[in-house]
Amino acid sequence: MSVNAADAPAFDLAAWSAAHLDRVERALERWVTADAPAGVDHGAPAALVQAMRYAVLDGGKRLRPLLVMAAWEAVSESTPAEPGQAAMTAGQLETALRAACAVELIHAYSLVHDDMPCMDNDVLRRGKPTVHVQFGEASALLAGDALQALAFELLTPDDNNIAPHRQAHLCRLLARAAGSGGMAGGQAIDLASVGVALTESQLHDMHRLKTGELLQASVMMGAACGDASKQALAALHRFGAAVGLAFQVVDDILDVTADSATLGKTAGKDADQHKPTYVSVLGLERSGAYAQELLGQALQALEQSGLPNTQALQGLANMVVNRIS
Ligand code: IPE
Ligand code: IPE
Ligand code: MG
Ligand code: MG
Ligand code: MG
Repeated sequence: MSVNAADAPAFDLAAWSAAHLDRVERALERWVTADAPAGVDHGAPAALVQAMRYAVLDGGKRLRPLLVMAAWEAVSESTPAEPGQAAMTAGQLETALRAACAVELIHAYSLVHDDMPCMDNDVLRRGKPTVHVQFGEASALLAGDALQALAFELLTPDDNNIAPHRQAHLCRLLARAAGSGGMAGGQAIDLASVGVALTESQLHDMHRLKTGELLQASVMMGAACGDASKQALAALHRFGAAVGLAFQVVDDILDVTADSATLGKTAGKDADQHKPTYVSVLGLERSGAYAQELLGQALQALEQSGLPNTQALQGLANMVVNRIS
């Protein structure tokens, strides 16, 4: 009997997210510890690990891990069922969780450093005092460094669960998105642009690097945990680019329109610090319209992907653009 689309149950993004968030939180709790993932005592200083856990646990929307899980599911559903698939799926779930947590660790490290006095000099993050306020600047610097290293450790377990070529591919995707051609490069442009009137194209490039690349990498890393066709990968790449840029456009908007209690970080900082943003260059209304246009591009890319199970990705893209915090 064929199932009519109208008969199919509506996709419940909240329930889907809750299930994955639970997995991700438990995995982060387990992996961001003084012990190596295998349970071997590293002899890591307790104070440093405490700062790392403060930076990562108990806060944040976890959008990047959710994108990893959604992209993994999207490509997994397109893989034909094979004998032994159940075992393969459990292994893939572990791989996807490692990828999801690795991206979140890089993101958390970028926030710790972004908030430091030498960068945005912020005192509030995820509703709590920033890491350098709580633990001091040197500890914040080192906690960021150590979170970055831990991200790559998570992607390279020596238990044969992830094939070496997949480990290398995941590391490469994450390293490129985090480095000078990605987040760190974008942050350098951001700092060099204080008080500078950027053109729309320069602003686009800055935002693509500082924020877009890591979000796009989340999508591509999720896809890399399964086996996607070239067509699907190209479409997911376009999806990730649009969602990644839209995310920072909306971050710029919320800095102006939302309050600190809702955001869990200091509102109104961009104008105070003379940062070029989509709002300063295009104004609020055109920035909002641009975010919606990017959402349209993202959803169109999913339609072109040929993937049957993209509802979670669709829902997350909608959330990125229509969120209030
Ligand atoms: C904030 O990211 C920093 C940017 C890249 C704009 P998020 O808004 O995803 O922060 P959390 O993870 O929810 O705290
Ligand atoms: C930060 O951009 C992007 C990062 C790479 C961390 P913002 O400086 O606008 O992020 P918020 O507003 O402090 O979260
Ligand atoms: Mg910044
Ligand atoms: Mg900032
Ligand atoms: Mg911001």
